[in-house]
Amino acid sequence: MAILYTVLEDHESASRHVAGLLVETINRHSPDTSGLCTLGLATGSTPLSVYENLCRRYQSGEVSFQGITTFNLDEYVGLPPEHPQSYLAYMRTNLFDHVDLDRSKTHLPAAHQIDDSHSAEAISRRYESEIENAGGIDWQLLGIGVNGHIGFNEPGATIDSPTRLVDLAASTIEANSRFFESTDQVPKQAITMGIGTILKARKIVLLATGAAKAEAVAAAINGPVTSDNPASFLQTHSDVLFVLDREAASAIA
Ligand code: GLP
Repeated sequence: MAILYTVLEDHESASRHVAGLLVETINRHSPDTSGLCTLGLATGSTPLSVYENLCRRYQSGEVSFQGITTFNLDEYVGLPPEHPQSYLAYMRTNLFDHVDLDRSKTHLPAAHQIDDSHSAEAISRRYESEIENAGGIDWQLLGIGVNGHIGFNEPGATIDSPTRLVDLAASTIEANSRFFESTDQVPKQAITMGIGTILKARKIVLLATGAAKAEAVAAAINGPVTSDNPASFLQTHSDVLFVLDREAASAIA
């Protein structure tokens, strides 16, 4: 199935577009209608403006997060939850602390719980069950890595992969080192939703902006479906939209 994509002028307008789609989705599922809505959320620098936009729209009364359940894609292994670069800290700082989300309905893989009596496998399996028990993900937000990774599904990930412990690719560690004092401090592992987990979401929206993402985006849309570019697996889903700025769309044939 061909991946649909829409091209906006720049990062800000692409982010506004995605925030608008999210607000529509949330409002369509408001407690007065069908009640529940489960969102899959992403981290990284790309969705920051989306979250800023959502916080603003919440403050102006355009949207409420009551009744919303969230599941984040991934979490680093080896960082305590209060570490400023943990994805939990990111979500608190950029969204959770500013809107009326019920904290007990927000979820990230509990990577910090890995120890002798809590294996990464058990924590990953529990995350899959939590997603299933919530009725699955209605709307999944994704970014994309320069090597085509989604969540932390690096090249080599299989189409049916579940939530699991993964090693980060050297290029991902390098790319994410900008958030840490040095490359050595970047965690080398994470727990991530698998490609199989992501593909179960009913709708998927991938936001990519900037020239650095152009090759990965073009390969995901036009290239073969291959674990060399994990985002290309999205071609097998029936409801995917890529929201791009001009630069990120510049290599699409
Ligand atoms: C990170 C995250 C991904 C994100 C990607 C791109 O490592 N695990 O979910 O999409 O890399 O990040 P950025 O938006 O900062 O370029």
